[in-house]
Amino acid sequence: MKELLLALLMTAAATTASAQQRYETTLSNGWRFSHDKQTWQTINVPHDWAIAGPFDKKWDLQVVAIEQNGETEATEKSGRSGALPWIGKGYYQRTITIPENCKHAELVFDGAMSEPTVWFNGILAGHWAYGYNTFRVDITPFMQAGDNQLEVDLQNVEESSRWYPGAGIYRPVKLILTGSSWIDPWKTFIRTTKLAANEAELAVTVGTGNALDGGLSFVVEILDAEGQLVALESNDNVNCEGTADMTFSIKSPQLWTPETPYLYTARINYMQCGQLLDTTTQKFGIRTIQVSKEGGFQLNGVTRKIKGVCLHHDLGPLGAAVNKAALIRQIKTMKAMGCDAIRTSHNMPSQMQMDVCDSLGMMVMAESFDMWVYPKCKNGYARFFKEWSKKDIENLILANRNHPSVVMWSIGNEIPEQGSKAGKEIAESLQKLCHELDPTRPVTQGLDHAEASIESGVAKVMDVPGFNYRVHKYQKSIGQLPQGFLLGSETASTVSSRGVYKFPVVPDDNSRYASWAPGYDPKAIENADGQCSSYDVEYCSWSNLPDDDWVWQDEKPWVIGEFVWTGYDYLGEPSPYDEYWPARSSYFGICDLAGLPKDRYWLYRSHWNNNKHTIHLLPHWTWGKERRGKVTPVYCYTDYPTAELFINGKSQGKISKNPKERLDRYRLRWNDVKYEPGEVKVVVYDAEGRAAGEKSMKTAGKPADLRLDTWTQNGQTLNADGDDLAFITVSLTDAKGTLIPDASNQLMFEVTGAGTFEAVCNGDATSLESFKQPTMKLFNGQLVIIVRSAREAGVLTLKVSDKKSKLNKTININVL
Ligand code: GAL
Repeated sequence: MKELLLALLMTAAATTASAQQRYETTLSNGWRFSHDKQTWQTINVPHDWAIAGPFDKKWDLQVVAIEQNGETEATEKSGRSGALPWIGKGYYQRTITIPENCKHAELVFDGAMSEPTVWFNGILAGHWAYGYNTFRVDITPFMQAGDNQLEVDLQNVEESSRWYPGAGIYRPVKLILTGSSWIDPWKTFIRTTKLAANEAELAVTVGTGNALDGGLSFVVEILDAEGQLVALESNDNVNCEGTADMTFSIKSPQLWTPETPYLYTARINYMQCGQLLDTTTQKFGIRTIQVSKEGGFQLNGVTRKIKGVCLHHDLGPLGAAVNKAALIRQIKTMKAMGCDAIRTSHNMPSQMQMDVCDSLGMMVMAESFDMWVYPKCKNGYARFFKEWSKKDIENLILANRNHPSVVMWSIGNEIPEQGSKAGKEIAESLQKLCHELDPTRPVTQGLDHAEASIESGVAKVMDVPGFNYRVHKYQKSIGQLPQGFLLGSETASTVSSRGVYKFPVVPDDNSRYASWAPGYDPKAIENADGQCSSYDVEYCSWSNLPDDDWVWQDEKPWVIGEFVWTGYDYLGEPSPYDEYWPARSSYFGICDLAGLPKDRYWLYRSHWNNNKHTIHLLPHWTWGKERRGKVTPVYCYTDYPTAELFINGKSQGKISKNPKERLDRYRLRWNDVKYEPGEVKVVVYDAEGRAAGEKSMKTAGKPADLRLDTWTQNGQTLNADGDDLAFITVSLTDAKGTLIPDASNQLMFEVTGAGTFEAVCNGDATSLESFKQPTMKLFNGQLVIIVRSAREAGVLTLKVSDKKSKLNKTININVL
């Protein structure tokens, strides 16, 4: 039977009529951009018109009370959405050439910020309200053979976002040309219905977008990662909705997990009377998801706790303009920490990000909305919710339901209606819609009012009750939840600035080192600089420390995991400095805005990464005269239970983790150490008391080297595709390679050869230097330069120079 079908397919392919074959292309170059339709600039898409700045508090100054932060009085807020010029109108144009034999054409926008209106040859062809969602525009009725004019009009209104939304066509646009009979990829749905010892059962639905005719059939081939055919089925019973269902049995399936992200490909062939009409491919993974009281969260029947992080969509200095290399760097860095899941807070992800998560192995909670009917900011999505929410959920799910990485849908974040009857009705109807479109994944939402959402019934009707913060309410909540489990849908919100350490070290939910802060005592607080301490003991009034979450994650089987706020710093929401200028990006990140790990990275790694040992020491050991003899606590983040600390060879004591103390259960702390220059060293011991490793840090000498560490997705080289990026971390060090931890030298960059300078970022949330100028100050000794490959092979040369230290360094990157 299989042989017969294959033979049929081969003949069909050979007899494909002269009709247009499927042609898909990403429209990246050839675009023109304008703010006023008077002056135009040539640009490439993805494009973020606002990221070049300049930073200015005037762009998004607001007088508001942030209800979510418990504020009741309106005060002036700056930098809340990044202090970048994203508000306003933007117009994009380009020419599209349609061949003579094309019968059907559509554009797929993966997101455009925002309120995109699409004109084709001057005729209104499509519109979408939400800037984060993917949408399709059928341009068949408006097209002509030859050149056609595409225009996309966008507008961003003030106070429409609680963070930096980006601006422009910031995600790819695809053009798809077919003959008049074509496969609709959004009708393809591949799910694992059964997993047995050595066999998986798949249910596959495929469908056509065109009007139905006689003699239609679908033949679906399943290929393994090497491209070998492992199964093949056909169905000539295309129903009135244009879809056909098939069941597959896959022997010895390779299951998708974050640890083994195995991907299969389905090749879908659409035929009529033995003639091939259209072919598409769809990657997928074989895996199942369950949530239950007994098993918690299960992937392929195996219970695991979600070790997740929330991510906003911006890529720091690249803005919202999505880029594959940047996404790979983000996801790989998180994976190396032991993280296995991301939450796309608080909106739809890009396809590119989901592809990266599929192939690298990262589970995803794909979110949709930050508000429903009740607005969280004056012009937010609440303006659109009634008319658009169902369409938005539909596109989110249809576009993403074949990604094995997506393990859960989220219908909202901290929705103000969570405590009301109306909120329960909306929750039920959105969840029902999710189930209709995808019965395989559970649905959640992030609730920040435990009592109110339980009382209203909202928390009780969700497949997965997700609670944001307030771990102290978990115990009471679980007794009232019929589900028998809960998820920390958003946790921690600990704040820190890379390389900044404040003394004395005091755990606090409201530390602010700035002169405007109420209660600020300039004598008591060193360095009033708008930064947060990297001792990782500072958080917000509504939030907590990583340690507080882990107690629940570790002790209660009914807590199914967490999503930490956030994996990376993001543009906007500079809490606790919403009222301080200049502060324009967050302090919540485990990594800073440049993607460099803060100390907290090693704290999470010590707890989350079960494959690698962690031994990390803080703070740095290069302090001025004023700290000599002063109490300078030393923390060690390690998975080992015990360690001994030495300062210049003198023991400071051997200590073990203490499960009874909030900050000693997961960290090793020497709180009374007095600073003296030289060497700080830790020796760690395993559970059997054996010395298992050590780590030391030295006081830095004079600046002697600009160290350049290059990261690319290939290792060291770049792809000559014009899209690939290299991230070069610059560290100012002494002759022995020790970081000069407070250096703020102004560096200059020059890129020549096979590529261009793209952006630079130092992770300082208070910096007003542009990301797009080839100069920036080091922040605590470091910064990251991003360069872009050319379309032609060659050598890209980057020169970094520092006038102050008179150092300079050049590296070459091969572009292949
Ligand atoms: C949460 C909210 C996030 C972010 C965070 C900061 O309440 O869901 O979007 O604002 O607080 O701690």
